[in-house]
Amino acid sequence: MILKVGVSMPTSFSSLIYAFPLPSVLIGESEKIEALNPPATALLGLDATGRHYITVIRQPAVLDAVEQTLKDGMARNARFLGSEGLRDTTWRVNVCGVESISGPMTLVTFEDVTAVEEAGQMRRDFVANVSHELRTPLTALLGFVETLRGAAREDPVARDRFLAIMEREAARMAQLVDDLLSLSRVEAEERVRPTAPVDLSALLETAVQAFSPMATQNGNTFRLDLPPDPVVIPGDVRQLQQVVSNLLENAIKYGGRDKPVDLVLSAPMLEPTIRTEGVHLTVTDHGDGIAGHHIPRLTERFYRVDSHRSREVGGTGLGLAIVKHIINRHRGRLRIESSVGKGTRFSVILPAR
Ligand SMILES: Nc1ncnc2c1ncn2[C@@H]1O[C@H](COP(=O)(O)OP(=O)(O)OP(=O)(O)O)[C@@H](O)[C@H]1O
Ligand SMILES: [Mg+2]
Repeated sequence: MILKVGVSMPTSFSSLIYAFPLPSVLIGESEKIEALNPPATALLGLDATGRHYITVIRQPAVLDAVEQTLKDGMARNARFLGSEGLRDTTWRVNVCGVESISGPMTLVTFEDVTAVEEAGQMRRDFVANVSHELRTPLTALLGFVETLRGAAREDPVARDRFLAIMEREAARMAQLVDDLLSLSRVEAEERVRPTAPVDLSALLETAVQAFSPMATQNGNTFRLDLPPDPVVIPGDVRQLQQVVSNLLENAIKYGGRDKPVDLVLSAPMLEPTIRTEGVHLTVTDHGDGIAGHHIPRLTERFYRVDSHRSREVGGTGLGLAIVKHIINRHRGRLRIESSVGKGTRFSVILPAR
């Protein structure tokens, strides 16, 4: 397809592409760049007016497309990989013949498709992670079914032991599916802030009771510090229970044996980070802590600091991703501070009204 443009001078073309928001480059019949707009100068890193296009674009896929279009004027697409600081960017390049009185020209425009590419990559990573997490317990289950049918058929001791392992692996899969479902539910609802009154003081007392058996088994004691008056905030009670459960479970699993776990709730006060009155809920353990470079990544799905150890204690790396989405939905903030060898503090700041 050849675009017919009703202007006769290349300079008019220049002013036309100056008005384009997308990076645009106009190549003349002589294969030299007749004009390019400021977004193109920024993308290509230089003002290349008057230079041969090969010395400026330098990516084979795009060069091929331009070369062909210079010959036949047909429209083509190609991919161009750029970079913006440390971030890689991907561009869909449209190459198209245009006709002017001074001769045929080729217009090259760049459309930023980085976000689309990133979303695709995230989806692929997610599917790969989920499949990997399910495959491990499934392989174990299938292996034990095989053994129970064969070698262990008449051995009641082995059978009981294998059944116990199978139960644990199946429970792990069920937990993974539950976590994935809560994650997608919270994400779907994230735009709607929950408003039902939730008594956080009572919620914390109940959570501490619920986790007491697990804590006792691990030698942990909870030290709960609540303000004198009940703290009631707008929220979704089940989701806030989940936040507290996930943080307490982590404090027990990763906070070391025989150590206290501190839970502190503040009374509402003016909270600059959320620009309104808020409450602080902190869960502090006195375990091994987390090295600084892991901290920003803890809330990513499936991210585990020590994946072997975490998997041993039954973790899939979804707990903190869920926590973060729930807090976002409540328009709150999550802060993580840790010092290696001393322990970790998770602070949740939630709007009080
Ligand atoms: N209190 C803590 N102290 C030290 N490391 C922690 C603590 N809490 C979390 N982590 C680290 O952060 C990782 C991510 O935690 P997260 O709760 O998201 O996943 P998980 O506990 O592995 O699995 P899940 O919560 O889905 O069962 C954990 O694997 C662990 O390595
Ligand atoms: Mg966890």
